Amino acid sequence: MTRNYRADFPVLSQEMNGKRLAFLDSGASAQKPVQVIEAMDRVLNTGYSNIHRGLYAISQNLTAEYEAVRQKVADFIGAYSDKEIVFTRNTTDAINLIAQSWGRAHLQRGDEVIISEMEHHANIVPWQLLRDQIGIELKIIPVKDDATLDLDAYKTLLSNKTKLISVVHISNALGTINPVQDIVKIAKDFNAYIKLLIDGSQSIVHMPIDVKALGADFFVFTGHKLYGPTGIGALWGRMDVLETMPPYQGGGDMIEHVSFEKTTYKEPPFRFEAGTPPIVEVIGLGAAIDYVRSVGFEYILEHEKELIAYGQERLSKIEGLNLYSRAPQRAGIFSFTIDGTHPSDVGMILDQSGVCVRTGHHCCMPLMQRFSLDATVRASLGLYNDKDDIDQLIEGLYKVKDLFG
Ligand SMILES: Cc1ncc(COP(=O)(O)O)c(C=O)c1O
Repeated sequence: MTRNYRADFPVLSQEMNGKRLAFLDSGASAQKPVQVIEAMDRVLNTGYSNIHRGLYAISQNLTAEYEAVRQKVADFIGAYSDKEIVFTRNTTDAINLIAQSWGRAHLQRGDEVIISEMEHHANIVPWQLLRDQIGIELKIIPVKDDATLDLDAYKTLLSNKTKLISVVHISNALGTINPVQDIVKIAKDFNAYIKLLIDGSQSIVHMPIDVKALGADFFVFTGHKLYGPTGIGALWGRMDVLETMPPYQGGGDMIEHVSFEKTTYKEPPFRFEAGTPPIVEVIGLGAAIDYVRSVGFEYILEHEKELIAYGQERLSKIEGLNLYSRAPQRAGIFSFTIDGTHPSDVGMILDQSGVCVRTGHHCCMPLMQRFSLDATVRASLGLYNDKDDIDQLIEGLYKVKDLFG
């Protein structure tokens, strides 16, 4: 049931190296539909100003539009209230905010944070910084050969020192869909005070999200993978948790009253949004959510399922191709190597065939080490991809095989 959403994305009408453009790198950053580009253009052309505290119409209208996006994000992920949505720069910014605000306020030397072996560096390094600062311990859920998390091992990591568990919902390097609801339940059954953070950078694009059903305390995502602009992401936190967190950064817009003796801060989420926010980008994110909703997850899921099956079948026929995306539950991400070639060579030859893929460690160096790799080739799907893109990828891979014999 392929519909032609490709036409909504101006970039995709171009050629690359004289070839039809097959964009298979949406896992890194997705292309933008004309609806998002126009929404941002409209603000810049007709209604731009700073928001909050402007008494003139343009500022008041844009403030209302900006705050309406907060509600839109809340509705999109099933939050209880728009006040639980903090606008951040991206996922990285959101996780650093949680580590530095919640982590510094609630964790002490010897407390334990559990992450997994398939985390993006954005969900590793902020906890290492915190470890250096206050002496927390990091524990790691191992990844099994079938690219899933070892849940038995996970259960043995839980202890009375466990304070937070932070795991990725869909792995950007493998496509594995982790059973985060089970991971949350296991932790909460062990100790209801353990906090759970879900990195939704990839899942926000591939499946409908309901943070209430997930049962976690934090959910974070980045706008640019959701067909929105760069420079904008969101952090959802349960209000009773956000209320216990001090500001992350200080400055304008996050205060109630400032004097040299004492400053008081606004309630969440505004307490966490110091300085002039990325106003135009927030409007772009709102347009991206409207766009994804207009396409609908029913279509996205069905279409992706079809392309995963097709891609898997075609890739499996290539001799010497090792597919690491092999978890039973996975999204449209194919991570692989080809015997006798380096992923960078594959990427460069695919470029000549008009195919954009990502090669390297995908910001998951520990995961690469787990599989004794330094890099893979990763082809990742967006809602605009079709079977022609997969065919073009396969054709390019046969060219690689010819060249490397
Ligand atoms: C699973 C995952 N987590 C975190 C990130 C970081 O996102 P950003 O660079 O937008 O902060 C990414 C981006 O690739 C990702 O795929």
